[in-house]
Amino acid sequence: MCGIVGYIGEHNVEDALINGLKRLEYRGYDSAGMSLLINDKIETVKKIGKTQNLHDAVTKKYSGGKGGVCTTGIAHTRWATHGMPTEENAHPHLDMNGNFALVHNGIIENYKNLKDKLVSHGYTFKSGTDTEVIVNLIDYLYEKDFFKAVAAALKELHGTFGIAVISKRHPGNIVVARRGSPIVVGLGTNEMLVGSDVSALVAYTRRVIYLNDDDIAMVKKDDVQIYNIDEVPVTRETALVDWDPGEIEKSGYKHFMLKEIEEQPDSVRNSIRGRIDFKTGTAILQGLNITPKEVSGTTDITITACGTSYIAGLVGEYYFEDLADIPTEVAQAAEFRYRNPILKPNSLVVAISQSGETADTLAAVREAAGKGASVVSLCNVVGSTIAREAGRGVYLHAGPEISVASTKAFTCQVAVLLMMALKFGRINRLSIDAGNLIADEIESIPEMISKLLKTKSEIEKIAEKYAAAEDFFYIGRGYMYPAALEGALKLKEISYIHAEGYHAAELKHGPIALLDEKVPVVALANDIPGKDKVIGNIQECRARKSPVIAVATEGDEEIKEYVEDIIRVPKTSKYIAPILTVIALQLFAYYIADKRGRDIDKPRNLAKSVTVE
Ligand code: F6R
Repeated sequence: MCGIVGYIGEHNVEDALINGLKRLEYRGYDSAGMSLLINDKIETVKKIGKTQNLHDAVTKKYSGGKGGVCTTGIAHTRWATHGMPTEENAHPHLDMNGNFALVHNGIIENYKNLKDKLVSHGYTFKSGTDTEVIVNLIDYLYEKDFFKAVAAALKELHGTFGIAVISKRHPGNIVVARRGSPIVVGLGTNEMLVGSDVSALVAYTRRVIYLNDDDIAMVKKDDVQIYNIDEVPVTRETALVDWDPGEIEKSGYKHFMLKEIEEQPDSVRNSIRGRIDFKTGTAILQGLNITPKEVSGTTDITITACGTSYIAGLVGEYYFEDLADIPTEVAQAAEFRYRNPILKPNSLVVAISQSGETADTLAAVREAAGKGASVVSLCNVVGSTIAREAGRGVYLHAGPEISVASTKAFTCQVAVLLMMALKFGRINRLSIDAGNLIADEIESIPEMISKLLKTKSEIEKIAEKYAAAEDFFYIGRGYMYPAALEGALKLKEISYIHAEGYHAAELKHGPIALLDEKVPVVALANDIPGKDKVIGNIQECRARKSPVIAVATEGDEEIKEYVEDIIRVPKTSKYIAPILTVIALQLFAYYIADKRGRDIDKPRNLAKSVTVE
């Protein structure tokens, strides 16, 4: 979604801001802008479209120099919510009197009431955004103290925000604050950065402070003071970001998505490194901080997440029931709190989120904790809000995922769920030998993925053949049912082709009416329990003239007589098959989208981290 970056210090301010914005592009946006404090005046440039448009405009504007000293600036990429993507609606927004400039992520729910109040005090507005209300409110409440004006304004807001504000009367200061939308402060030497995401800062510093909800920070080039909303000083730890800035470069790949697909042997290796113990046939997941007694007393598990992370949870449901004997359900995070979930004293809630910032998943974590359930998180982004609020959990260590479509986070989520189920299983029912069999399989995942990736050119050829289709069905059963959902999700989000993931047996209860020779069916017919039944379902599709592309196990000759094309995956057990199958389907979707010339890393209408409900 929207991205924030701010810089204060001795380097070139606009370079730092543009650099930060470019690193936030992956989050999805439709306009960009920046405000610089030059000679105690705020100068603002905004452009719709790519950050390159903003970059060009800023370069042109200051080609003859800035005509004064500039040490402070803020910038933003906007993903339209309130109001169309126009220059007027792009951030930063200035108050009517031009005293303050502000960038904002999130949504202000009571902006209409606040706007009416400000209008009654003579304020006028230029944009259709809720953000312009905040900056005018700050101006209205200002009485010589920048920090106090911001704090007073924030007390009146309902909704979510991450903000950065500068003031022409207070050069050398940026005030940042958050409630429900992340803000991180990057600590440099004689320079400070602020951002909505560490990727905006990591080229300048690895030392960061993550703000908590209702924290307000006064940032100067050599000092950061943090207060709560009641203006009482608070202390927040400094964390070290373990990402290498090189990890967020394309490194010669045409798209981040392809790079991230190909990184999966390494990302899964990093995820499982040091977490398997063959002596005891179990997984060591220190961050879970859970005792054997707590595990054996767990009556049920609810996994909650959104999108691809939700689908990873569906695979986890099979793992926990198969290996650990614990009844498990997967709840869409957006529904979780509204359906008033039944949580017992020994229920465990597992929240899964790549970004650790997804608004609905965060709300589900809070609801579960409020109902007294134990909550653990599986997040990729270290220090993210969900990870911090859950208090315990397992980091995925997938490395930064830049492409909007999630790939390597999914496979690491599934690998971590399998390790968790192994750990719980060893406590509840599995022998050491049974545990070691699973542990061996987990250890083999990176090598199996490498083997699969060697066949990518064959998958590309099949993708080329079907790239013109306008509708697809993906079908699977058991462990392959979630894989079918994920394959369809990947295809629709990056290629814009209509694709539905369905349980193979459910097809005949309705959607089979849609099948004909123009609708290919991707059937997940891996050589694991359930394959015979999938072959029956394939025949139902063929009888309706649908061309069928099977995902099948290497060496399975029988499948040839039933299908048009075959995507091969290495032979594994049912536990690992969803990981390999989804990677094959990621590649299939990628190549189709590429043939259709799509903007694969930034698909239309999508944002990398969805911080609104
Ligand atoms: C799809 C995709 C989304 C995310 C979803 C949850 O490729 O990326 O469906 O999985 O928005 O995001 P996280 O995992 O960050 O909570």
